[in-house]
Amino acid sequence: MKIAMVGSGYVGLVSGACFADFGHDVVCIDKHPAKIEKLQAGIMPIYEPGLEALVEGNVKAGRLSFTTDLGEGIKGAKAIFIAVGTPSRRGDGHADLSFVHAVAREVGQCLANDAVVVTKSTVPVGTGDEVERIIAASGTAHRFAVVSNPEFLREGAAIGDFKRPDRIVIGAEDEFGREVMREVYRPLFLNESPILFVNRRSSELIKYAANAFLATKITFINEMADLCERVGADVQDVARGIGMDKRIGGKFLHAGPGYGGSCFPKDTLALLKTAEDFESPVRIVEAVVKANDSRKRAMGRKVVEALGGADAARGKKIAMLGLTFKPNTDDMRDSPAIAIAQTLADAGVAVAAYDPEGMEQARPLMPGVTMCDSPYAAIEGADAVVIVTEWDAFRALDLDRVKALARVPMLVDLRNIYKPDQVCAAGFEYVSVGRG
Ligand code: UGA
Repeated sequence: MKIAMVGSGYVGLVSGACFADFGHDVVCIDKHPAKIEKLQAGIMPIYEPGLEALVEGNVKAGRLSFTTDLGEGIKGAKAIFIAVGTPSRRGDGHADLSFVHAVAREVGQCLANDAVVVTKSTVPVGTGDEVERIIAASGTAHRFAVVSNPEFLREGAAIGDFKRPDRIVIGAEDEFGREVMREVYRPLFLNESPILFVNRRSSELIKYAANAFLATKITFINEMADLCERVGADVQDVARGIGMDKRIGGKFLHAGPGYGGSCFPKDTLALLKTAEDFESPVRIVEAVVKANDSRKRAMGRKVVEALGGADAARGKKIAMLGLTFKPNTDDMRDSPAIAIAQTLADAGVAVAAYDPEGMEQARPLMPGVTMCDSPYAAIEGADAVVIVTEWDAFRALDLDRVKALARVPMLVDLRNIYKPDQVCAAGFEYVSVGRG
C-alpha cells in the first residue's frame, strides 16, 4: 500500500520509516526543503536511537522516499497521514491547528484518488470534523474519510514503541476508514497488537487523557517524594509498594525533577483549554500542571539548600550532569534543567554542564551555563555534582575520580540513580529525591 506522511518531524519520520519497514511504500513530505535535502542525504534532523539505520535500510530497499511536493507525494496514496506540529498557541495554551488545517486544505486541492486522511498529530477533540469540512469544501470528486490515529511514541524508545505497541487506537466514522486502517496496520495485527476501533472524538480524547494520566502519575509520586522526605520514608519503596498493585501499576512512578518534553506540558495545557471550552473542568489536571511547574524551580532551591542555603551558595559552582528532559534524546523542550539552572543563576551559583546529546540545543536556552566536554570536566572544582537527567553515562561515575576533581564531595541525585549507602561509603554527602 502506498502511504503518504505529511510532516517529517519526529512523529512523521519515525512512523514513516516504521511503516516502510513493514513493507509499505512510504513517501515522507515536508515543506522545508533543507530538511528534505538532509533526509535525502541520509542525515537525520533529530536524535533517535536506531532511526538512521532504519531510514537508510528502507531508502535502499526503495520503500521510503522524501519530497517537498505534496501533490506528487500523495498521488496514489491510500492513506495520507497528517503528522505536522500542533504547538501551544502563544498566549492561551490552545493547540495551534494552523498547520493541520493548511495541510487539510492542500490535500483537498491535490487529491487525485480515493484516500483516507489520518490525523496522527495530537489534536483536540473535534479537529477531525474540521479537517473533514475543509477537505469537503475543496470540492474534491474523490471519496475520502477522515480518521484519528494518535501516536503513543516515547522519545528515545520510539521505534520499539511503534513496532510493539500496547495498543493501536483508530477513531473512524465509517467502514472505508476502518478498512484502510486495518490494511495499514495489518503487520502489527498479525503480531497480535490490540487495535481499538472507536469513534473519532473518543480517539482524539484518548491521546490527551493518556498523557494527562501519565503526567498525573508522575506528579503524584513527586509529591509523595516530598512527603517521604518529611516523614522519613523512602519514595522508591513507596513506589514499589503501590506499583505492585496491578490496578496501579509500577510504571511512571519514578520521582524526579518534574516532567518536561514536547508532549506532557503542551498536552496537559491543551486539555485544560478543551475542558474550559466545554465547561467541564478537569481539576486534577489543573493541579498537576501547577505542581509540576513549581517543582522545577523547587529542585533548584533544593540544590541551593545542599550548598548550605542562600548565603553560603552565592559564588559557589556546581556541575550539572544531564540537560535534556530525559535520556536518549537531544530534546530540551521544557526540560527541568532550564528552570533549575535559572534558579541557581538567580542564587549566584555558577553552573558547568555536560549532556551527551543535548548541549547544542541547550546552549541558546541556558546562556549563563558553561558547557563542558565530559562529565569530569564539568565536575572539576565543583561544590556539588547535580544529576538532572539519568543518562546511562552517569549511572556508573568513577566516584574516586569525582571526589578527586570536585572541591566538595557532594552528590545531588535528582533521579535517584545511586544507592545512598554506596555513595556515602565512597565519602560523599548524598542528597536525593524522596529518601528522607
Ligand atoms: C510521552 C508519552 O510517554 C508517550 O506515550 C506519548 O506518545 C508522547 O509523550 C507524545 O505525546 O508524543 P515523551 O514525552 O517522549 O512521551 O517522554 P516520557 O518518557 O513519557 O517522559 C516524559 C517526562 O516525564 C520526562 O521528563 C521524564 O523524565 C518524566 N518522567 C517519566 C518522570 O519524571 N517519571 C517517570 O516515572 C516517568
